Amino acid sequence: MISKEELERREELERREELGRRQEMQRRKEKERRKKLEESIDLAKRQEEERRQEEERRTQSSRRTKKRQAEENMLISEIESLKQNFEDTTKKLIKDILRQDKIMLRSDQRQRKDYDELQLKLEEIKLLSKEIEDTQKEVIFTMGAIGESRSKETGNHVKRVAEYSKLLAIHYGLSLKEAEMLKQASPMHDIGKVAIPDIVLNKPGRFNEEERLIMDTHAQIGYEMLKHSDRILLKTASTVAYEHHEKYNGKGYPQGLKGEDIHIFGRITALADVFDALGSDRVYKKAWSDEKIFKLFREERGEHFDPNLIDIFFNHLDDFLKIRSTFKDVLD
Ligand SMILES: [Fe+2]
Ligand SMILES: [Fe+2]
Repeated sequence: MISKEELERREELERREELGRRQEMQRRKEKERRKKLEESIDLAKRQEEERRQEEERRTQSSRRTKKRQAEENMLISEIESLKQNFEDTTKKLIKDILRQDKIMLRSDQRQRKDYDELQLKLEEIKLLSKEIEDTQKEVIFTMGAIGESRSKETGNHVKRVAEYSKLLAIHYGLSLKEAEMLKQASPMHDIGKVAIPDIVLNKPGRFNEEERLIMDTHAQIGYEMLKHSDRILLKTASTVAYEHHEKYNGKGYPQGLKGEDIHIFGRITALADVFDALGSDRVYKKAWSDEKIFKLFREERGEHFDPNLIDIFFNHLDDFLKIRSTFKDVLD
């Protein structure tokens, strides 16, 4: 039989065991709860961390977006500003071009006007210059004709001499300008005759020695009359007057020049003058026949006349004869 004390002790023991078990269970539970709590805390921390990261990502993204937006805005504004600038510049350019156009138009009109005025003045000067030139030519021709008319020549004599001279000059190889100059000047070859007394100049018969000497001074006199001029035409005329009685062989007058020492203008006028004088009727003599003239010219080739000019004369004989018939004398 179990004593009461024993029973009580056993009961006490069981109670203690029971308590111990309960405490153990409670500790375990507490441990589990703690563990769960820790896990919960961990989870919460992780979630918090994730949320924070997410937040940060969002913030960054938003920042980036904002930055991009700002950049875009800046770009747009820059483009706008550029566009505005471009438009302004274009407008300004167009305005400038239009203004420039206007200025140029005005300048063109002004220049055109100036040019037209200048042309008109030039035209006037040309006319005036031609007038002076024509007058000069006419005066020279008239002076030549006066010289001739005081002797027994006709007006057409100087015209023919002028034409023959030009023809010879061209074929000799002188420039057209020189040939034209000679044509203008050659009518003056006998201008010195204005100073020869009528009694000698118009003597019907042959000259005696003294009269011949007086007559021959017309070359020197003509030269003296014209030599002081600076005009090229008058200078040419003075050469022609001075040297038209020189002979290629040196036996002419007044200087007795020889060959090509005689100016080509003098050599040419000599041939033209003699050809015309011999071939024309005069009140005191009949014209020589062509055969007689040609015979003389062949004989005088290199004597009285420049051989080259004689060759030119025969090579272009038809042209010389044509001039003679075009300007033939009308004798009353
Ligand atoms: Fe003469
Ligand atoms: Fe003459």
